[in-house]
Amino acid sequence: MTARAEASAEQAPQARKPRVAVLFGGRSSEHAVSCVTAAGVLGAMDQSKYDVVPIGIAKTGQWVLADGEVAQWSLSSAVLPEVEPSAQSVTLAEIGGSHQLVVTAPNQVPLELGSVDVVFPLLHGPFGEDGTIQGLLELSDTRYVGAGVLASAVGMDKHFMKVVFADAGLDVGPYVAVTDRQWTNDPQAVRDSVAALGFPVFVKPARAGSSMGISKVDAPEQLDGAIAEARRHDLKLVIEAGIVGREIECAVLEGRGSDAPRTSMPGEIVVTDSSHHAFYDFTAKYVQDDAVALSCPADLPAEATTQVRALAAQAFDAVGAEGLSRVDFFYTPEGELIINEINTMPGFTPKSMYPQMWAASGLSYPELIDELIQLALNRKTGLR
Ligand SMILES: Nc1ncnc2c1ncn2[C@@H]1O[C@H](COP(=O)(O)OP(=O)(O)O)[C@@H](O)[C@H]1O
Ligand SMILES: [Mg+2]
Repeated sequence: MTARAEASAEQAPQARKPRVAVLFGGRSSEHAVSCVTAAGVLGAMDQSKYDVVPIGIAKTGQWVLADGEVAQWSLSSAVLPEVEPSAQSVTLAEIGGSHQLVVTAPNQVPLELGSVDVVFPLLHGPFGEDGTIQGLLELSDTRYVGAGVLASAVGMDKHFMKVVFADAGLDVGPYVAVTDRQWTNDPQAVRDSVAALGFPVFVKPARAGSSMGISKVDAPEQLDGAIAEARRHDLKLVIEAGIVGREIECAVLEGRGSDAPRTSMPGEIVVTDSSHHAFYDFTAKYVQDDAVALSCPADLPAEATTQVRALAAQAFDAVGAEGLSRVDFFYTPEGELIINEINTMPGFTPKSMYPQMWAASGLSYPELIDELIQLALNRKTGLR
């Protein structure tokens, strides 16, 4: 046997390519952003290496097989992309000891699509990035890309995230958490605790994303309106003292095997159209192309760059993240680094900060996707 024949004989047990189910859409207000991410990822995945099954999740929660339209989705158009419900549903079922994707429709014999080796949940926000989908996949012992149940849940909740970060010694900045019960029973106590932070403050839904429901409040009389707006997204809120500083972000990628997490060169977000955007809001993030400039590597003193990367890895480990995370900081004029948040499923279109920071650090978008899938394929299921 030639060396080449020997090599292919060795590979024979892997009779087929790993099957990757890409999940996108979902029930959160970031549905459209997730659709755009899916278009980017599906376009960049190596189809000669992976058998890709795109599965959209409609806003109702229904899983449907997604068609070829995905590639054309963009956020700049007047109509936001959306996964439409269908008569055919996809489910993940345990059949004969493996996890099979099954398509069901009324009055039809269920169609088995085959077993799934790994799920790539490209979902942002509640019911996707918050541990719920991860829990479903854990229950069926299915491997998936990204953070597990607890890390996803902690990373989704801006309050518990700060509790964990503060415990790990990271600087989180002054804030108050406000529950539905506190606001309903004693709104004046909430107003008083917010006033003690000093204005401006940022009022945020505790569990949202993409700047949805967030307002900058410059004076006490605007507070109730901002709270009402944030409560449309989540009844639990986090209200933070406004921080003056540059917005610096860092991409983290889990290490291979037992290696430490890898960190990218930090990037910076500069809101260039500040007359229309008081901060990095939804339109600046996704709709108005020229509202922000992403610069990577960020122009920072060498020691600040080193510190950002070390703190980002520390934040990743503090919540017990896996796979990927983007960690965002404020870099104050005094040179402090205050952590704003961790995103366990950060924006992931080819133009998003996370892939851009890796590209600037030598890892292209297709390579990054491949690495994430490999990390997930090589990971243990169950408690780990
Ligand atoms: N405490 C703060 N001080 C100053 N700016 C803030 C503060 N919190 C948020 N912002 C601004 O609002 C944006 C969105 O807030 P963030 O907490 O990152 O929400 P999201 O999870 O939706 O991205 C930030 O990128 C920043 O521009
Ligand atoms: Mg953010």
